[in-house]
Amino acid sequence: MPIETTASVVADVPADVELLAVPYAAELAPAVELDLHVPTAALLAHYDAKGEAGEVVEVPVARADGVGRVLLYGVGDGSPRALRKAAAALTRKVKGRQALVVVTPEGDVTAFTEAALLAAYTFKIGEPGKPAVRALTFVGADEDAVRRGQTVAQAVALARDLTNTPASVKNPLWLAERAAEQDVPVRVWDEEQLQADGFGGILAVGRGSANPPRLIQLSYTPPEPSDRHVVLVGKGITFDSGGLSLKPNENMKTQKTDMAGGAVVIAVISALARLGAPVRVTGLVAAAENMPSGTAQRPSDVIKHYGGRTVEVLNTDAEGRLVLADALAYADAELDPDAVVDIATLTGAITVALGRGYGAVYATDDDLAKGLVEAGQASDDRLWRMPLIDDYAPALESSIADLANVESGSTYGAGSITAALFLREFAGKRPWAHLDIAGVGRSTVNEGVLTKGATGFGVRVLLEWLTR
Ligand code: BES
Ligand code: MN
Ligand code: ZN
Repeated sequence: MPIETTASVVADVPADVELLAVPYAAELAPAVELDLHVPTAALLAHYDAKGEAGEVVEVPVARADGVGRVLLYGVGDGSPRALRKAAAALTRKVKGRQALVVVTPEGDVTAFTEAALLAAYTFKIGEPGKPAVRALTFVGADEDAVRRGQTVAQAVALARDLTNTPASVKNPLWLAERAAEQDVPVRVWDEEQLQADGFGGILAVGRGSANPPRLIQLSYTPPEPSDRHVVLVGKGITFDSGGLSLKPNENMKTQKTDMAGGAVVIAVISALARLGAPVRVTGLVAAAENMPSGTAQRPSDVIKHYGGRTVEVLNTDAEGRLVLADALAYADAELDPDAVVDIATLTGAITVALGRGYGAVYATDDDLAKGLVEAGQASDDRLWRMPLIDDYAPALESSIADLANVESGSTYGAGSITAALFLREFAGKRPWAHLDIAGVGRSTVNEGVLTKGATGFGVRVLLEWLTR
């Protein structure tokens, strides 16, 4: 479901306001004059408020016909990060209310709006979830800044919706249909076309499923013609059972989210026009369902990727790299990009390394890595650069094929790094970056801008990177 909370802007606090939020900082001085009968600073001190982002103090106030409320909210140091925290806390505080009028804080109103809306996100099959606040009105805010925050939040919500959808509904064909609903040209390869063009990795992973695989291409062209062309590649495994290398149930039950990278690519492309992105962007979503069956690929099979490279599949649960390899090789051979960025819930190992707060970025190009890390800081989809350690490349040697999809022993380990090294083989000489979002793609808590389930991680950083 898209976020149903509306966001609008007014010049002044409306006279009949019922629920009003007013910011304050460490000096406990609210941003507008309030008639609260007790001096506001003393009131805040009484409630032990310190001015931190996330603090919300609720005060009943007299109104013409009854009682209204003022929510005093802390903004900390006023940084975008603090404002996001403040906004999310406000939205969570007013859950179930009709309307909240917010006196806008100094600073990044886009970040503030975006977080206020994201904290209102819910996903529930059938009955709508407990309604978030229906209407947010920002007093004295810049319209464009609010609009931008709203666009970004809706794109994140789209990625979350696609990712939260159960795999009984969501198969590769369904994902292609959702892509086709976006306002950009879309091309879809069905299984015959995948066969004809030699996409052996996508086909091999999809072979075990009754739901055939698809490759989905979305194209954004900026209004002013641009020479710069970026390709985004997303992992679109609509369910990852592991295949014949079957996962235990504990690990399998979250794997409807294994197309989170693909969802991010669709959602990012859907928002580029509204944000006025100045570069050409092609999205590729390599979609397949990884299932065990009599037609499934076997551990020890050798497959042939787009472009002809052969891979010995030693573990069918290392399937993400197989579908991505095809898409990366295709981008390199056919799309002539200036940069390629792939995004994938690729390895459990990255959750061990970075946990749930930072996504991993690997890159063959320092400027590309720097741009993504900076966009991550600015957008709050934070990335940590990981090394492509060449010494570990022998982990993926095969005696019968060009490469193996996993290390057969345990000499090297480093599961996320070796997965990245595998992908690098298919990116050609293009500046290439790989985002491993297995740790950050799903949240286990309702907190801040996150709701349990899909996070949409990657939408904000890629939109920031593509529009700066
Ligand atoms: N989709 C998984 C990675 C994953 C794990 C994503 C947990 C989200 C949460 C991926 O396809 C996978 O199974 N990776 C294996 C690789 C291994 C077989 C080399 C893994 O991480 O165990
Ligand atoms: Mn897997
Ligand atoms: Zn997977």
